[in-house]
Amino acid sequence: MTALIVPVQSDTLAHAAEILGRGGLVAIPTETVYGLACDAANPEAVARLYAAKGRPHFNPLIAHVAGQDMAREEGVLSEQAAAIAQAFWPGPLTLVLPRAETGTVCDLARAGLDSIAIRCPRHPAAHNLIAAFGRPLVAPSANRSGHVSPTLAQHVADDLADRIDLILDGGPCTSGIESTIVSFTGESPMLLRKGGVETSVLKAVLHNDLSIPSDGAIIAPGQLKSHYAPNAALRLNAAAPEEGEAWLGFGPDSHEGYNLSLKGDLAEAAANLFAMLRTLDTRSDRIAVAPIPEEGLGEAINDRLTRAAHRD
Ligand code: TXA
Ligand code: MG
Repeated sequence: MTALIVPVQSDTLAHAAEILGRGGLVAIPTETVYGLACDAANPEAVARLYAAKGRPHFNPLIAHVAGQDMAREEGVLSEQAAAIAQAFWPGPLTLVLPRAETGTVCDLARAGLDSIAIRCPRHPAAHNLIAAFGRPLVAPSANRSGHVSPTLAQHVADDLADRIDLILDGGPCTSGIESTIVSFTGESPMLLRKGGVETSVLKAVLHNDLSIPSDGAIIAPGQLKSHYAPNAALRLNAAAPEEGEAWLGFGPDSHEGYNLSLKGDLAEAAANLFAMLRTLDTRSDRIAVAPIPEEGLGEAINDRLTRAAHRD
């Protein structure tokens, strides 16, 4: 019996590739969050992956590639799409593209759509594994569907231990928030999910040609109003904790509890967000969260907090 969580090394990467080749499920570190990977071309493996996460089948997966060549096998890159791939890959950006005729990603992974979501991760473990595997791996965040995304190998084990074959431990995810998703299937590029690449930076590369749906609109199948949800109730934009509430601060304060970034750094806050939500969730059933400025990475942090706070 081998361990479920193993460090990233050449032998464990080879073992992971072998498991994936057999249709198994392997959790992998990426720079955003841990992903639950399987062979994108194998419908049985993809069906197991949906079942392990408890994910609805109408919610398509992101194909992770090793570079632009592999991406072009799967999706049709317009000039604009190629420009932002060039600017932000490898990195926390996902492109939704018209599917290419040469595409190998199975129907189930695309939820039957004619489009395909593609990302080229920067984390060396993810990159090396995909390159060794030789074709795309689909990898949704490695949490139970609807729960807080994992930024540590242990988070993956907490959610999925008995349902998957291996977890590659690459340490804490440095970016901590999922990739930004931009669709190139319509008239002009559209922002489907705020994430690790800031909207303003994206806009600059696209010469402002980016449509941004109004807040709360559900444009990606998986962007449900309630998502990233801890069990605890969240109170956002709080000035201070009330009796019985656990505290999640931002910037200098003297309240007892956790702080996303004492120095008010949004990148540090993004990296801490999901791990602190998971920890606070074990301490209290009510969490008060300080205001986060709606700028830079703060936009993606507020998006996740709003969904985490939403109760249907
Ligand atoms: O940072 C990330 O993107 C992480 C790491 C592991 O790479 N992955 C991730 O995957 O966040 P997931 O499955 O948790 O979120 C993927 C999102 C979902 O909201 C899904 O609906 C959307 O991408 N999506 C996938 N294919 C799509 C498509 N063809 N059109 C529109 N949205 C799509
Ligand atoms: Mg997810």
